[in-house]
Amino acid sequence: MADIETFKQENRVFAPPAELVKHAAISGMDAYHALNAEFAKDYEGTWARLAKDNLKWHKPFTQTLDESNAPFYKWFADGQVNVSYNCLDVNLENGNADKTAVIFESDDGKVTRVSYRELHQKVCQFANGLKSLGIKKGDRVVIYMPMSVEGVAAMQACARIGATHSVVFGGFSAKSLHERVIDAGAVAVLTADYQVRGGKQLPLKSIVDEALDMGGCDTLKHVVVYKRAGAEINWVEGRDLWLSDVVANQSDTCEPEWVDAEHPLFILYTSGSTGKPKGVQHASAGYLLWAVLTMKWTFDIKPDDVYWCTADIGWITGHTYIAYGPLAVGATQIVFEGVPTYPNAGRFWDMVARHKATIFYTAPTAIRSLIKAADADEKVHPKQYDLSSLRILGSVGEPINPEAWMWYYKNVGHENCPIVDTFWQTETGGHMISPLPGATPQVPGSCTLPLPGITAAIVDETGNDIPNGNGGILVVKRPWPSMIRTIWNDPERFKKSYFPEELGGKIYLAGDGAVRNKETGYFTITGRIDDVLNVSGHRMGTMEIESALVANSIVAEAAVVGKPDETTGESICAFVVLKRPRPTGDEAKQIAKELRDWVAKEIGPIAKPKEIRFGDNLPKTRSGKIMRRLLRVLAKGEAITQDVSTLENPAILDQLKEAQ
Ligand code: WTA
Repeated sequence: MADIETFKQENRVFAPPAELVKHAAISGMDAYHALNAEFAKDYEGTWARLAKDNLKWHKPFTQTLDESNAPFYKWFADGQVNVSYNCLDVNLENGNADKTAVIFESDDGKVTRVSYRELHQKVCQFANGLKSLGIKKGDRVVIYMPMSVEGVAAMQACARIGATHSVVFGGFSAKSLHERVIDAGAVAVLTADYQVRGGKQLPLKSIVDEALDMGGCDTLKHVVVYKRAGAEINWVEGRDLWLSDVVANQSDTCEPEWVDAEHPLFILYTSGSTGKPKGVQHASAGYLLWAVLTMKWTFDIKPDDVYWCTADIGWITGHTYIAYGPLAVGATQIVFEGVPTYPNAGRFWDMVARHKATIFYTAPTAIRSLIKAADADEKVHPKQYDLSSLRILGSVGEPINPEAWMWYYKNVGHENCPIVDTFWQTETGGHMISPLPGATPQVPGSCTLPLPGITAAIVDETGNDIPNGNGGILVVKRPWPSMIRTIWNDPERFKKSYFPEELGGKIYLAGDGAVRNKETGYFTITGRIDDVLNVSGHRMGTMEIESALVANSIVAEAAVVGKPDETTGESICAFVVLKRPRPTGDEAKQIAKELRDWVAKEIGPIAKPKEIRFGDNLPKTRSGKIMRRLLRVLAKGEAITQDVSTLENPAILDQLKEAQ
């Protein structure tokens, strides 16, 4: 289990402001307990009530939860919906047509406002354009686009016609994109000529070309290109189309394709403990229901809020809390193209002030890097900006350390904004464990309590409950509507990864360790229990990086471990054995750089090891197993105090001790 003992404890309790409690969707702990009691009394009935109250059904469902083929659970299976209808048309019908849906701010600071009416038209034209290409319900469409209104519209357009999208983060390499296009069997890639971030134009279309040139993408027929920058790009006649041509002359209404509740809305690839990323498949109705409920419960979204989630649409946070959730509740949201440090590290605070944002949701890594920047330069300190519009702050993607929590609370939230530290995963579809802003007293570093309906618990390796105060494995005992449905093309891996037999085959294994406080029952996440790293809130499999390294012809063997990092949470440290003698000095530096660039090409720049150490060998047991736990100690720069008697080659530890 990860360092439970060394986890820095912060025991101060921060109560939600009274004014917020008064008007909150879940107002006070009594309301929270009452909702829990309702679930405890009638689990399915409560979900059914919420599903009826919060979604518009084309055909009402009669069965709530179908457990007959567990763990392939089905929710609301005989009901029919359309997700895009629930995000857009619903707002035209209930008086939000002229309300701003999106305040888009470009990298260079240009602001565009898009109303619900305009967004609806845009999505309908996009959807009709896709239909004109022959794209239909059930087809898979890969989206490789920058943060933009068009990116959100692309996702909504797919949902409207029942095509299953798979968004690939713009920082992934051609090879990663290639793998995903093939695995998903995509018929089209929607992309842009370039993306613009931090004052730079970064190519997207040329990466798509490179990916498709790798061959084997037999299902692919179209590449649709949104012109963001207008610079030169390569063009393949007959395959490539400009988005502007695809949507030209298309009607601005498009009858939604009604789909079964379980219809796959999207596939999103994420890292697991083997080399191959997993295509996490989500359903339509259950997913959207939880997006709506968590917008109401965790963010307490109100009609006048200006909501801002800084994630990228390439990650699950950008799916649930940009592309779907905020629209489904008729919110006004900020969508930002750029990066937090351009033109300077005050950009987030400046944007909060200018747009009068009321809810701000970001990652601990961003906060930590902005703390550093503010320490170095007073001018970008949040105190220079008017942040008085803020009422709720959020954190997502990785543990937030108590120091960063306190800074965020004081300097950004002026000590009267609750911080919702939301624990969840690509697989869970939405928040799982989080404070409620108008109810839960917060303790820095703890994600506090499960949301109503979420049966999170901590168990041992055989699935037995563990008493509070002891660390164990985080599980969810009952299925919930927004849970992962399967791994695309690999139902066996789905069962093995998330519903292992050792735990009885029916409870969801999150892959994280956790501990509950003895008195309060509050959860603290202690880190992944598998070979998954979390670098700047990005999930990365150590095996994925190892496979990339050994794919290089000079590498004989590689082992990758995580190392605690002040800014990025964890950083990647690779131990590498070359097929040639172990390099030292400048040669080692040169080869390390080449290997880092190699990994960037194989997976993407986010997977570059921060540190590479070369050895003549790796520490192995007599049976040849690499002892990763020793490598983790070495990476941290600590002395090895563990028993090394099973080690075949203890002398190697000395060689790998020092960073090169
Ligand atoms: C980690 C991101 C601590 C965790 C939404 C999880 C967190 C993985 C938190 C999922 C949090 C996410 N506190 N750890 N509030 N939120 N994690 O799939 O290890 O990109 O399993 O989903 O991030 O990452 P993913």
